Amino acid sequence: MTTPTLDDATRLDAEDPLARFRHEFVIPAHPLSASDPGPGSNGSNGGERTARQIYFVGNSLGLMSHRARRRVEAELDRWGRLGVAGHFTGETAWMPYHELLTDSMAAVVGCRPEEVVVMNSLTVNLHLLLISFYTPTSTRYKILIEDHAFPSDHFAVESQIRQRGFDPDTSLITVKPRPGAHILHPDDITDVIERHGDELALVMLPGVQYYTGQVLPMADITRAGHAVGARVGFDLAHAAGNVPLELHDWGVDFAAWCTYKYLNSGPGGPSGCFVHNRHVADAGLPKLTGWWGTNKQTRFHMENVFDAIPTVESWQLSNPSVLSMSALYGAMEVFDEAGGIGRLRFKSEQQIRFLDRLLDEVIGDRIENLTPREPEGRGCQSSLRVTNPDQDGQAAFDRLEASGVACDWRYPDVIRVAPVPLYNSFTDIYRFVEILDGILE
Ligand SMILES: Cc1ncc(COP(=O)(O)O)c(C=O)c1O
Repeated sequence: MTTPTLDDATRLDAEDPLARFRHEFVIPAHPLSASDPGPGSNGSNGGERTARQIYFVGNSLGLMSHRARRRVEAELDRWGRLGVAGHFTGETAWMPYHELLTDSMAAVVGCRPEEVVVMNSLTVNLHLLLISFYTPTSTRYKILIEDHAFPSDHFAVESQIRQRGFDPDTSLITVKPRPGAHILHPDDITDVIERHGDELALVMLPGVQYYTGQVLPMADITRAGHAVGARVGFDLAHAAGNVPLELHDWGVDFAAWCTYKYLNSGPGGPSGCFVHNRHVADAGLPKLTGWWGTNKQTRFHMENVFDAIPTVESWQLSNPSVLSMSALYGAMEVFDEAGGIGRLRFKSEQQIRFLDRLLDEVIGDRIENLTPREPEGRGCQSSLRVTNPDQDGQAAFDRLEASGVACDWRYPDVIRVAPVPLYNSFTDIYRFVEILDGILE
């Protein structure tokens, strides 16, 4: 097999049925400081005169789409024209605005419409779900998370344990990679679940691990957790919009995710929240409640009797930020028009193979890729570590950034790059490897 060339990348782009969606997005200029059009600009890509970044950081913040901007502007306009009447008027009335997102979001995570709602932000939703699904008793009180979980998840779980009067030292258990390994071994997860068996109240793990990009076997974990009588939930921050999910069929109890990564809702965009339909109408579950979770028909009767909406919407507390939701609505129009997660994943796997081949043949053992190799074990992110002890990984990252590659550095020593199929090209991947090759020379 010969090493892929720039011509190969160009040909793959020309054959790519999703290539046109790149033009739906505003790709930041490079170098940022010199070409940033600044406030008041229309944010367009400005033709091809300005060099664009190789934007490989959609695993952190997805790009702005023109559609998102238009949807936000439309709601600002309606606010100006209608004032409070905007709540009840027109196709995008604000009262039921979140319902515009339900079908798209259900397709992203593989569930039924009554099982998904967009609300709040990720950590807030994790707390709301922990209130409902972490119901410790004197004998069953432990929560399993991963060692070095994303700090927000760790803090949320730790604080919930304390709130219920338990001690994280005895109630919080973790699973970690084997010595010398970077990724979790699936058997170790099921072993620890079985070992803690009757004492295990809850398993809360990521769908895709943020540091290594590993996809965890969510169906197997759910089965193993349920087999010992525990509940199972996932943080899907790095999974939603990245890999196909089947939350309903896997029987997952609950999940939450942010939409500002692969779903392009913009900084601090709203979170998605899933509760399996066997739980959504369970009045016995503890729940923090607010007026947005009560019966929509009688909400404005202003009675102080909570009448739960018989869907996951009953977990809603407040009337949501419509401006933030509208950016997500615009972004999801693009995502859905591209064919949704199925078609995007098909291209993503092509891009992963293309990147892997180039890394193997051009970069070789100058970097180690911590991300699992097989497609079912990973999403679009690759977590790269510079192997030469005389070469500073962070300096290499800085040089990548200075060369126009937007990627990120995760302490202690990983450069994360995520070619996103909705807007990254094969040429982006080729150019990235070319730049990396030059930096590591
Ligand atoms: C895996 C994971 N969990 C939780 C969070 C926290 O998200 P938020 O600040 O939206 O609550 C993030 C943010 O990037 C994340 O990547």
